[in-house]
Amino acid sequence: MHKNRTTITQFIIEEQRQIKGASGDFTSLLNDIVTACKVISNLVNHGALVGILGSAETDNIQGEVQKKLDVISNDVFIKSNEWAGHLAAMASEEMEEIYPIPVQYPRGKYLLLFDPLDGSSNIDVNVSVGTIFSILRAPENVDKPTEQDFLQPGTEQLCAGYALYGPSTMMVLTTGRGVHGFTLDQNIGEFILSHYNLKIAPDSVEFAINMSNQRFWTPPITRYIDECLAGKEGPRGNDFNMRWIASMVAEVHRILTRGGVFMYPLDSKNQDKGGRLRLMYEANPMSFIIEQAGGMSSTGLARIMEIQPTHLHQRVPVILGSKTEVKRILSYHQEAAR
Ligand code: F6P
Ligand code: MN
Repeated sequence: MHKNRTTITQFIIEEQRQIKGASGDFTSLLNDIVTACKVISNLVNHGALVGILGSAETDNIQGEVQKKLDVISNDVFIKSNEWAGHLAAMASEEMEEIYPIPVQYPRGKYLLLFDPLDGSSNIDVNVSVGTIFSILRAPENVDKPTEQDFLQPGTEQLCAGYALYGPSTMMVLTTGRGVHGFTLDQNIGEFILSHYNLKIAPDSVEFAINMSNQRFWTPPITRYIDECLAGKEGPRGNDFNMRWIASMVAEVHRILTRGGVFMYPLDSKNQDKGGRLRLMYEANPMSFIIEQAGGMSSTGLARIMEIQPTHLHQRVPVILGSKTEVKRILSYHQEAAR
């Protein structure tokens, strides 16, 4: 029997109708992002068959070895989004400088930030990866966009989302009216609404952290994890479970689905850089999603979305997920600071 299913485009258009004064521009921009993610999904799916696994033999601005698929995905995102006239400029994990819209195309009022392929160390081993994006409004009357125009706190984001290339491809996004998930129907090439209004359980007994960094941690993190590991007999009186996928998108998606906390905290190994994860195109969009789903996201000392960025590729410590657990970790930080 035919069942009426809501496509992502229909959902976005209907949402936009609720926003006074919204033009069709935003819907159209999201459509181009969705198209880019479908292309990347298809490439990721075909993997070795289309010769895209392995290293590109270049380093990105972060000093990380770029995978072929990092470079290709970055290109797909640019080509899908540069022509339509919605954007003033783009910025990506894979490009040192911002990418102003080329002169042959009309310039629009939005700025797009993205991490084209997050967790890309997982590609060659066929483990889930994803794309993260964030949309900001360009300052009024910007003629030549600069990096400065992008340096807005996460609270200014108009939309944030990710595509997860897992056993199924999903798109999860927020425009500040809850978080909604869509699953790609490969047969018709459309994302279909499958997870309406996702909410994160406030309590949880599952944590995600790279345990190999244990010796570099700060006392509040060591305390929290030690207490979890002590299990039923310890101060928490509960057995905890641990997961580490090394793909932030997959990690956040698990937390949206069944709760938990994810941490990439400041430690003595990453403190010179300010943390491990990038503020503008990793931490901010994920924080927007997590908060919209009722969770919490912090550096340990401050709400991530309130940080005034000072540069495009800035890094931050990240602690996010189920509210009660994140609050506890923050209280350990406050106690240690006193
Ligand atoms: O881009 C950052 C990232 O790949 C995240 O997706 C992931 O959470 C983290 O790095 C993995 O870090 P590590 O290599 O320390 O496990
Ligand atoms: Mn990344």
